[in-house]
Amino acid sequence: MSDPTPITEQSVEDAVEAALRAAAEAQDSAQLKAARAAHAAEASPIAKLNASLRSVPNEQKAAFGKLVGQARGRINQAFSAREAELVEAEERARLAAEAVDVTAIAPRRAAGARHPLSLLMERAADLFVGMGWEVAEGPELENEWFNFDALNFDEDHPARAMQDTFFVDPVERHLVMRTHTSPVQIRSLLDRELPVYVVAPGRTFRTDELDATHTPVFHQIEGIAIDRGLTMAHLKGTLEHFARSLFGDEAKIRLRPNFFPFTEPSAEMDVWAPNAKGGARWIEWGGCGMVNPNVLRSAGIDPDEYQGFAFGMGIERTLMFRNNLTDMRDIVEGDVRFSHQFGMVV
Ligand code: FA5
Ligand code: MG
Repeated sequence: MSDPTPITEQSVEDAVEAALRAAAEAQDSAQLKAARAAHAAEASPIAKLNASLRSVPNEQKAAFGKLVGQARGRINQAFSAREAELVEAEERARLAAEAVDVTAIAPRRAAGARHPLSLLMERAADLFVGMGWEVAEGPELENEWFNFDALNFDEDHPARAMQDTFFVDPVERHLVMRTHTSPVQIRSLLDRELPVYVVAPGRTFRTDELDATHTPVFHQIEGIAIDRGLTMAHLKGTLEHFARSLFGDEAKIRLRPNFFPFTEPSAEMDVWAPNAKGGARWIEWGGCGMVNPNVLRSAGIDPDEYQGFAFGMGIERTLMFRNNLTDMRDIVEGDVRFSHQFGMVV
């Protein structure tokens, strides 16, 4: 057995101080457990001092016993107090980490917005559906016959070059990116029973450069009505109703003579824009006319029995003067912040 540690006031005080320091320095329960093992458990300095009481002369036993007993009491109390502190701090940290902030804004995926061109085409189509018309579609990659021949464009007629066409290889397949929505006129006449009242909104393509008023990929809405006894007056009435629904009750239509191979007579239509930026004025909106008898014949319809009218306008232009936009590039660039301004209103 090794020599018992001599009990002195100093050695007891050293053991207590080392124990209190270790307790205070412990930063979590694990460190405290280790400190307690070193300073309060068996083989700790205070435990050894306690064991040494056995070899203290009898007359000093009471005094040393009290000294060591009080020291052990202080040490145990320091560890208990520190333990309570650490447990509380750890509990507080755990609650803070698990806390749910019920007022926090949940992370949300940015919502998109429908493109104003889509909204406008839907709105226009809805208006016609409300009048009993049907909505039709045609392919964007179109047969040259539908895009030109059936619409009375002569093989060598300069009108074929009038719309700058994307021809698609191989040439012998005679495919084009449709230059207008007018081929849907022919498709509708071939597909349906007469009378026909159809609108066809859709995408169109021309080899135009992108600038403030042109884009190579744009949209049109086509209308065709074939029935018995339709006249220019029906055309004008329909266009005026359309214009008023888009541009307000003050809107007016003006027709100016023009040429399209598929209508006769043909007209360029202007719309009166009372609220246009820079003052009220007439704005070119599209083309229209009475459907050419040759077009009716292409679709197997007897022009002596049935007549009608057709029209086609650019959707980008419509959106521009409806919303006072000055640059078509803003419409096509696809920045969602642009679309957001138009909201989700149909
Ligand atoms: C036509 O495309 C005829 N199909 C319209 C028509 C239909 C006439 C039915 C008679 C009967 P035009 O080439 O003028 O016509 O084009 C019509 C409209 O499309 C123009 O007024 C314009 O608003 C729009 N447009 C034409 N080219 C572009 C372009 N590059 N970018 C944006 N809009 C365009
Ligand atoms: Mg034109």
